[in-house]
Amino acid sequence: MKVIIGSDHGGYNLKSALKLFLEDLGYNVDDIGTYSPESCDYPPIAVKLAKKVLQSDDKGILICGTGIGMSIAANKIKGIRAALCNDTFSARMTREHNNSNVLCLGERVTGHGLAFDIAKIWLETPFSQEDKHLNRINLITDIENERLE
Ligand code: RB5
Repeated sequence: MKVIIGSDHGGYNLKSALKLFLEDLGYNVDDIGTYSPESCDYPPIAVKLAKKVLQSDDKGILICGTGIGMSIAANKIKGIRAALCNDTFSARMTREHNNSNVLCLGERVTGHGLAFDIAKIWLETPFSQEDKHLNRINLITDIENERLE
């Protein structure tokens, strides 16, 4: 069980805590940075994690202050379905319905305990495999490839 995690400075503290939490659950955590609380730009971290997710088929977790910048940036990469979740219901539903491959969290929005629950549920919930959801995900791919207007 491997998970790739990354953050900017706004998500650095939560990333450090979440890494330990996930390791305690038995996950092999690939931390792609940032490695200090010093201010840095989030888009390059989002792209680095997104590419690793696509190459490996592992899931990824991105954290910034709100989770919004990371989700906007990650969703620019073809094949990435990044879901910003501030609650456990959304975490479950985005795995079941959207087969999201990246979870985004906001350190300045979500407390550590809730963020841990969100991450655990998101990692443990399988995609439903229902035809209607597969079809909708294929339609998202059509948008990426400019086949849907
Ligand atoms: C950094 O101050 C903050 O803008 C960033 O972490 C993130 O919240 C952007 O969406």
